[in-house]
Amino acid sequence: MVLVAFWINTGDMSNRLNGLTAIISGGARGQGAAEARRFIEEGAYVVIADVLAAEGRSLAAELGDNAEFKHLDVTDEENWALVVKDLVKSGRKLDVLVNNAGVLLFDRLTRTSREEFERIMDVNCTGVFLGMRAVVAEMKKQEGGSIINISSVAGLQGVGFQFSYSVSKWAVRGMTKSAAHELARYNIRVNSVHPGLIDTAMLDQFEGEGMSIPDSLIPLGRRAVATEVADLVLWLASEESSYCTGSEFVIDGGLSMA
Ligand SMILES: NC(=O)c1ccc[n+]([C@@H]2O[C@H](COP(=O)([O-])OP(=O)(O)OC[C@H]3O[C@@H](n4cnc5c(N)ncnc54)[C@H](O)[C@@H]3O)[C@@H](O)[C@H]2O)c1
Repeated sequence: MVLVAFWINTGDMSNRLNGLTAIISGGARGQGAAEARRFIEEGAYVVIADVLAAEGRSLAAELGDNAEFKHLDVTDEENWALVVKDLVKSGRKLDVLVNNAGVLLFDRLTRTSREEFERIMDVNCTGVFLGMRAVVAEMKKQEGGSIINISSVAGLQGVGFQFSYSVSKWAVRGMTKSAAHELARYNIRVNSVHPGLIDTAMLDQFEGEGMSIPDSLIPLGRRAVATEVADLVLWLASEESSYCTGSEFVIDGGLSMA
């Protein structure tokens, strides 16, 4: 009887990321938090790295022993170095980086100040560059890893009313391909994810500023929930995507299809 119960429990357990360690930037809420939950369900250890300390700590506490919160401003090289150093010091290896942190701005080329443009590029673009650069040495040591950079459908198309954001997300797409070329020989895979409208605080900001894309314009007729993106990111983190690198993964209900 005891044996049967053990078998049933083991059969129910998921372990697609068993034994892997992941850093998720911007992991305190929204899509990053959904990814942290999903990764832990599948056996990973997750560093929730964010500037939002209260949300990040409370999520880590809720997720238990396989999660920890670390303060990380993605624009700060020293923050990145410390997050990686602490992981290594704790005896863990580093298998997955999700460069998920991002900020949105509604602007137009002709009405954007240099400061605003640089702020968006700093978080969305330089933050991704610094994150990739910070983890590569550890991933090389263990002869492999998966880096997932969160871009947007705004990194696939021109968007007139999100000038800086769109530029930054195209840069993420380009950086992904250049990094994938350089790192393939070390078995480090680098891919970008391009979400459409996902129900998070960022979408609230979008709609709060009077922007809206009616569901009727989305071929699947609805926006997505964050767990749908998390499932795609989970697949890219796992060995199930072992032959994918330098690729774009679009998850937008058909919004950007020609
Ligand atoms: N929600 C959407 O519709 C949508 C669509 C396409 C792409 N995206 C992208 O998905 C990613 C996740 O966004 P979300 O929808 O979960 O929004 P969100 O605003 O809920 O989450 C963004 C997270 O990034 C963190 N962050 C911001 N600046 C940071 C910094 N300097 N250092 C560390 N963390 C920082 C925030 O604290 C927050 O936790 C972003 O890159 C965003 O651009 C979102």
